[in-house]
Amino acid sequence: MSATGVLADVETASSASTLKNSQAYQDAKSSGGYESWVAYPVDTSLEFDRFVSDYAVNRVPIHVSFRHLVHWIKGERASHYIHPYPAKLLAHIAHFFLAARKHVPRGAVVLDPFSGSGTVALEAILAGNIAYWSDVNPLARAITKAKITRLNIVDLEGILARLRRRYNEAKDVSPPEVVNIELWYSEGTIDRLARLRSAIAREAEGDVADLLWVTFSGVARTSSRADPRFSVPVRRKAGIVARGRPLEDDPDVWAMFEQALRVNSSRISSLGVEHGLGANGCVGDDARSLRDPVDLQSELPVASVDLIITSPPYAGAQKYIRSSSLSIGWLGMASVRQMKELDSKSIGRERFSKDFLGNFAETGMPEADAFIRRIAEKNPMRAAVVYSYLAEMKDVFTESKRVLRPGGCMVMIVGNNTICGENFETSEYMKLLALRSSFEIRLELVDTIKGRGLMTARNKTSAVITREWVLVFERRPDESGQ
Ligand SMILES: C[S@@+](CC[C@H](N)C(=O)[O-])C[C@H]1O[C@@H](n2cnc3c(N)ncnc32)[C@H](O)[C@@H]1O
Repeated sequence: MSATGVLADVETASSASTLKNSQAYQDAKSSGGYESWVAYPVDTSLEFDRFVSDYAVNRVPIHVSFRHLVHWIKGERASHYIHPYPAKLLAHIAHFFLAARKHVPRGAVVLDPFSGSGTVALEAILAGNIAYWSDVNPLARAITKAKITRLNIVDLEGILARLRRRYNEAKDVSPPEVVNIELWYSEGTIDRLARLRSAIAREAEGDVADLLWVTFSGVARTSSRADPRFSVPVRRKAGIVARGRPLEDDPDVWAMFEQALRVNSSRISSLGVEHGLGANGCVGDDARSLRDPVDLQSELPVASVDLIITSPPYAGAQKYIRSSSLSIGWLGMASVRQMKELDSKSIGRERFSKDFLGNFAETGMPEADAFIRRIAEKNPMRAAVVYSYLAEMKDVFTESKRVLRPGGCMVMIVGNNTICGENFETSEYMKLLALRSSFEIRLELVDTIKGRGLMTARNKTSAVITREWVLVFERRPDESGQ
């Protein structure tokens, strides 16, 4: 994505060609039954080129507002809102880069290794690109898949009638293993959710069932006693009101589900776009070890990706597995023990064994090692958080470099945060890691965030992330000339 148009005339790699020839892709291209609309009305290449040239001369971050740059996106768009997720990326950011058509032609392979709820994947397929995505959180993968799978639910009333009948008839259904279930739900709500769950479980597996499960997952959270203002479940205090409805202890679970499914089904049916959706493929569950989307046993091939757009986790600022724990439990995606394992694979996690504390190597980046030593004096656990974060993000850069074709770009969106009262400049460390992995810095943009769902118990008392750095790194050719 450099100013010289490095993404033009890309030969797509074999897995991408396989996806392109797949039935789903062909079905998506023939837009039968759907109203189509223009998802990418403006080409942002000139704006992008201007930023790159300014940065090449001045080498200072450029302040922008992506909401203004991409002013044609307002409110709801396609299926972006089918499920809440912590620290969602602003769709405008992904859109701005994908709309630079001179550099990102239709059919280019766009990867988000930290896909979360699939903001980048959705924007990529709306732009007619091939979306690769991975995430360690099974709920994130389920949301992404449901969000980007075009569905024409012709018999929504029939589905609702069938589910409602089973829901009303079900008796004495046991709930799955959900952490501290009695703390989060009244007895009546547990019974209603368990009956709804058993009604959905009797539907045939497939794309419609995937959407039902994701919709159910949202209801499992909104019908709980968790305070809706926090991403991690925290018991709400009396008097808290959710947007548009009072919070009750015994909500009408069926009514919530029916309403959410109606809205989600119309969101999904808006996935018919002018040129047809691009294909997509899940490339595994670890950004450090990406898999081939058509054969998850094999590695994602070298140089098979044209562009990466991603917002990685912050160091110790967000607990994705814990935030999703109610939904993961109700969907039977992981037991309490398995959730611990998922957490241990999550970059940016907060807990480490006592043996690990004070017992880790240096990062090799003098600024980072000095920071870690200072933090270790105040709080060894937080020092371990920072060390592991940087060591694991280094592996992400190595893997990204492996799969990105020479000349391809990685757009990384990060925020700085506060650790033990000290400013942790994630953007500076990501730049250092990028340089060490043979990337060049092409552009730095800075945008001010107004609320990204980053409220956590810690953020209430320390710093809330207020600005977001959008860094564009270009993968240099290897010395071997590759
Ligand atoms: C900032 S969120 C991404 C949000 C996303 N851009 C969106 O719009 O919803 C970071 C994501 O990284 C995921 N993650 C953490 N460690 C990971 C790993 N080792 N491999 C892949 N994903 C990981 C988390 O589960 C989380 O979903």
